[in-house]
Amino acid sequence: MAVSGRRAAFLGVGHYTPENVLTNSDFEKIVDTTDEWILERTGIRERHVVTEDQAASDLAIPATRAALEKAGVSPEELDLILVGTVTSDYLFPSTACIVQDKIGARNVAALDTSVGCSAFIYNCNIASQLIESGHYQRILVIGVETLTKLTDYTDRNTCVLFGDGAGAAVLGPAQGEGGILATHMKADGSLGYLLEMPGGGSRHPPTHESLDQKLHYIKMAGREVFKHAVRSMCEAATYVLDAGGFSGEDVDLLIPHQANLRIMSAVAERLKIPEEKVFVNLDKYGNTSAASIPIALSEALEEGRVKTGDLVLNVAFGAGFTWAAHLVRWE
Ligand code: ACO
Repeated sequence: MAVSGRRAAFLGVGHYTPENVLTNSDFEKIVDTTDEWILERTGIRERHVVTEDQAASDLAIPATRAALEKAGVSPEELDLILVGTVTSDYLFPSTACIVQDKIGARNVAALDTSVGCSAFIYNCNIASQLIESGHYQRILVIGVETLTKLTDYTDRNTCVLFGDGAGAAVLGPAQGEGGILATHMKADGSLGYLLEMPGGGSRHPPTHESLDQKLHYIKMAGREVFKHAVRSMCEAATYVLDAGGFSGEDVDLLIPHQANLRIMSAVAERLKIPEEKVFVNLDKYGNTSAASIPIALSEALEEGRVKTGDLVLNVAFGAGFTWAAHLVRWE
């Protein structure tokens, strides 16, 4: 809750996904898998994928333009850009700076954060505190990922899971009684090895050897990640519900990180939130990591699934490990 009594609210949300689509049947030609296995074990039917010449900022910019238009905010009015991504255009400069330049946001600070799939919620929560403090007025929060560029298309355990996309939101001071009511963020680096890309950084810089060893691809212990994801997402969701004085039954829409339908169902069940109040678009996009929550939120708004006064619960889990949630009274 804001010390000042001032709260942050979502002023506009937009998203963008690349045109190319890979279906489960396409994967039957690439690895030893079936449409049935993928659908039954994950809930994914298809995913959007970038072309070779598309990078994160190419997805982030159209998502940003859509969010700015919906918010009725011009690029010059922004005072901060926070981009959540593990697939930035370059190691440096940041994707946030590329977006800043390309949209003509002349009065901002800009930075990327590496928080895996929890990045959008982390960044919204940080933005919320900065707006509550009165130091910032209009913050652009972007979640963007091109994970298919880090995917090993010979590894059936991971290659069927990921898709590319971007979502963006403009946050500013709430006008009424709504806005972000409660936030929560946690991390546990001791488990980071269960979901990582070992190569490309200063530990294993790119070399012919590191490429031969496939260190620049996503490595994941799926079953372990699954268990921690359910437990941590429940913990974060319960924290914000308790902080706001609510229970799962009060939630109008739960938007969980779209990684696996079985994870989402397990979380909803434990929180006592019925299936019809859980937003799912995983079937169309796969796991888009940092982009998953803002794409889902943007689509939920477009579909009229979120109305003024609704209580919306966003919760995510990702590499690090990191996990986070926030509770929003929509206005
Ligand atoms: N097609 C067919 N068989 C497959 C495939 C596939 N695509 N992938 C794995 N299998 C096989 C395995 O080889 C294994 O075979 P084996 O028993 O002969 O060894 C069998 O299926 C079962 O494998 P499990 O890993 O136990 O399958 P599980 O039911 O756990 O599903 C999955 C795997 C989908 C990866 C699941 O564990 C999962 O979703 N984990 C969580 C991932 C996640 O949430 N990540 C998100 C957080 S981080 C982020 O978003 C970047």
